[in-house]
Amino acid sequence: MRVCARASPSLALMKYWGKREGGINLPATPSLALTLGGLETTTLVEPAQGDSDIVVVDGIERDSARYAPFFAEVRKRLRSRLHFQAESRNSFPGGSGFASSSSGFAALALATARLVQELEERAEPSLDLLSELARVGSASAARAVLGGFTQLPAGSPRAEAFLPAEHWPEFRVVAAIVARGEKPLSSRAAMEATRETSPYYNEWIIDAPRLVTKAKDALESRDLPRLGALARLSYSRMHASALAADPPLLYWLPESVALIRACASLRAAGIGAWETMDAGPQVKVLCLAGDLEAVLAGLSAAVGKLECLVARPGPAPEVFIHEEGLAFPSHRLPPA
Ligand code: DP6
Repeated sequence: MRVCARASPSLALMKYWGKREGGINLPATPSLALTLGGLETTTLVEPAQGDSDIVVVDGIERDSARYAPFFAEVRKRLRSRLHFQAESRNSFPGGSGFASSSSGFAALALATARLVQELEERAEPSLDLLSELARVGSASAARAVLGGFTQLPAGSPRAEAFLPAEHWPEFRVVAAIVARGEKPLSSRAAMEATRETSPYYNEWIIDAPRLVTKAKDALESRDLPRLGALARLSYSRMHASALAADPPLLYWLPESVALIRACASLRAAGIGAWETMDAGPQVKVLCLAGDLEAVLAGLSAAVGKLECLVARPGPAPEVFIHEEGLAFPSHRLPPA
């Protein structure tokens, strides 16, 4: 039996950066996010023949140590004796700052749990449990098991739905592909280095909740200028704390800076374009559907040839039994 799960990445409007000491991968800051409909990770999982777990992402077998705590947690929480073989494909550049670990571990948690449920006759796991399993893989993945707008409170083992995708159908995210290569330093290693060596880390942890409270209010009111300004503060302060680490962590490329400046020019011209960045050089721009063309034109003008992906508040993941002998399932088409 093979199970397929399709999940979209979770883009943080307000960033998780840093872990609580003590627990297994518990976030030190609250985050507020959006599931990016239009970008997708598709994962097929089947029982492994031997007693090791194998994960292939975009054609490359991945380091099993990165996945070991996740699979151990799956076996423990679901009382399973299975080992798993997984193959995963991204519809967007993976490992380069488009949150592929969020959709990757969300899809993996959903598919492995369903396989255990079917083959070992376990009760259907709750969404809370699925979010907790995904979190052990990657904390941002706790959010990606849900659709729409989500939150992961500081110290929480699981994410919560905040508002459904229908709350803001005109909301768009333009994800500009600044570089395609996998990033040299993972979010995990970088946030750990920030915690250990940046004198600004504690200030970041103290400041973040205050910003998130305001951002939740702006999101509820569908107030893009207010939400956008708060999203800019969140990513800028996250990056400032990382830049002050020893050695300094600088993810930005010249094109990233050009795009940040292009957003400022767009806003000066009355077009709502509010950028955010994660642990990579990519720039994601928050805007409304009515301004999409102007935003795409403004960004392209800033850096010449530019490839962009456009996403909107997306649905929750999909999980289904994949018939034997069928080809790898194609991604869902982006919503019209
Ligand atoms: C900058 O969830 O990839 O994208 O929990 O160590 O796997 P681990 O980290 P990860 O970090 C995401 C960091 C971020 C912000 C966010 O998504 O909230």
